[in-house]
Amino acid sequence: MMSTITEIAPDVYRISIYNAQSNMQFNHFIVRDEQPVLYHTGSRSMFPMVKQAVAKLIRPEQLRWIGFSHFEADECGALNEWLSIAPSAQAVGTVTAVRVNLSGFADRAARALPPVELLETGKYRFRMIATPHLPHGWDAGMFFEEIHSILFCSDLFHQLGDVEPVTGHSLIERARQVLLANQVGPLKDYQPFTSKTGDYMRELAELNPKILATQHGSTYTGDGAQALLDLLQVIKEVYENH
Ligand SMILES: [Fe+2]
Ligand SMILES: [Fe+2]
Repeated sequence: MMSTITEIAPDVYRISIYNAQSNMQFNHFIVRDEQPVLYHTGSRSMFPMVKQAVAKLIRPEQLRWIGFSHFEADECGALNEWLSIAPSAQAVGTVTAVRVNLSGFADRAARALPPVELLETGKYRFRMIATPHLPHGWDAGMFFEEIHSILFCSDLFHQLGDVEPVTGHSLIERARQVLLANQVGPLKDYQPFTSKTGDYMRELAELNPKILATQHGSTYTGDGAQALLDLLQVIKEVYENH
């Protein structure tokens, strides 16, 4: 396994590690700013590799903020490894994430970021949009960077294969294939489709993201609002019919 680093916006880097066994990429993002941010820690087993890649961009011990969407091994498994090498690093998450998971899991106190609060890191600023059960998990949220309109959208638009780092082409068909394929295997019902799913997806679309930084697959650049509304239709079709 090797890592591929791509700058998806000024000083915003995608560190991608392709896992051939699961035929998917695991993407981690570094925002190089006065207060550097890591989004998705990666799993514990990937920590040495992700750290080596991060070290090409910043000094890992200078990391200040560690964010992720929801409590899962690929999202935050290596959180405590990162906290142990970066003395001023702190996890940041939704209010639910901090109360329900991080208060008991993180080796240092985490910062809860309610949706109305801004996290300013220097030249960049972030919001954590609470999206309970989207893509999954009570604690789920989506990180949004306001200067370049980047939505760190976690498992939304999940794609298989060792795909190109960035694309302007629609991700919808690839995402549909993953949701459909999962429905006939042991990982079925990847995402819940509830009476709230549409509201949360529309709320994300209203942010008007220009860049969709996915955790698995290519980053999309283009009309993120339309892409999210299209994905909502796909999620609806898949889970209503399969
Ligand atoms: Fe997930
Ligand atoms: Fe994931």
